[in-house]
Amino acid sequence: MRHGILMTIGVCAMAWTGMGAEVKELPVPNKTGGMPLMEAIDARKTGRSYNPEHKVDDQTLSEILWVAWGVNNHGTRTIPTARNKQNMELYVLTPEGTWRYEGADNKLVKVNDKNLIPLCVQQDFVEKAPVHLLYVAKEEGWGAAHVGSAYQNVYLYATSRGMQTVIRGMIDRDALTRELGLTDGRKAMLHQTIGYAE
Ligand SMILES: Cc1cc2nc3c(=O)[nH]c(=O)nc-3n(C[C@H](O)[C@H](O)[C@H](O)COP(=O)(O)O)c2cc1C
Repeated sequence: MRHGILMTIGVCAMAWTGMGAEVKELPVPNKTGGMPLMEAIDARKTGRSYNPEHKVDDQTLSEILWVAWGVNNHGTRTIPTARNKQNMELYVLTPEGTWRYEGADNKLVKVNDKNLIPLCVQQDFVEKAPVHLLYVAKEEGWGAAHVGSAYQNVYLYATSRGMQTVIRGMIDRDALTRELGLTDGRKAMLHQTIGYAE
């Protein structure tokens, strides 16, 4: 299985909400430890080499999502947002479907059964990555700034955990926006791959 991620979330409780959406509860993120911040900033870099056999476990996925867009100790997000609007969305793309991260509840909600990864594949390494994040925001309301804060947190987490990551603008934004059924000016902005080096 080249795209290993949510297929491996066997330990996550799965449920169907009253509305019929499939939900995956994520493990509680471990908010302790890791590389000292100054060392992580110094070591941060883009990595484009992925071992497709080296899967990302559920605990790690939960922590990736939490650093990007979780709810922190103060009850706001792990990133600052303009006027605390918290106007960003984070999706996980898998071959079996697309999931939206609900940070307040530490869960993923399935939004469709589509494989949208091919709309992000414009570089050879992308298909090998086990985790695919998609950032969605409006151009107005500082959406791009919020996305930038989130992907930087993921970069620092990846550095701290010896993982590879790259934030990517080479995606079919219009097609992704359309396939996700985004309205109100929300757009697919950037794609981020994460995994372990080959
Ligand atoms: C907004 C943005 C879009 C990017 N898009 C891509 C991309 O589509 N493909 C890619 O391989 N790298 C992409 N990058 C990564 C940059 O190429 C990378 O950050 C830069 O070469 C500096 O390397 P460093 O991150 O190791 O410091 C992007 C970076 C940013 C900030």
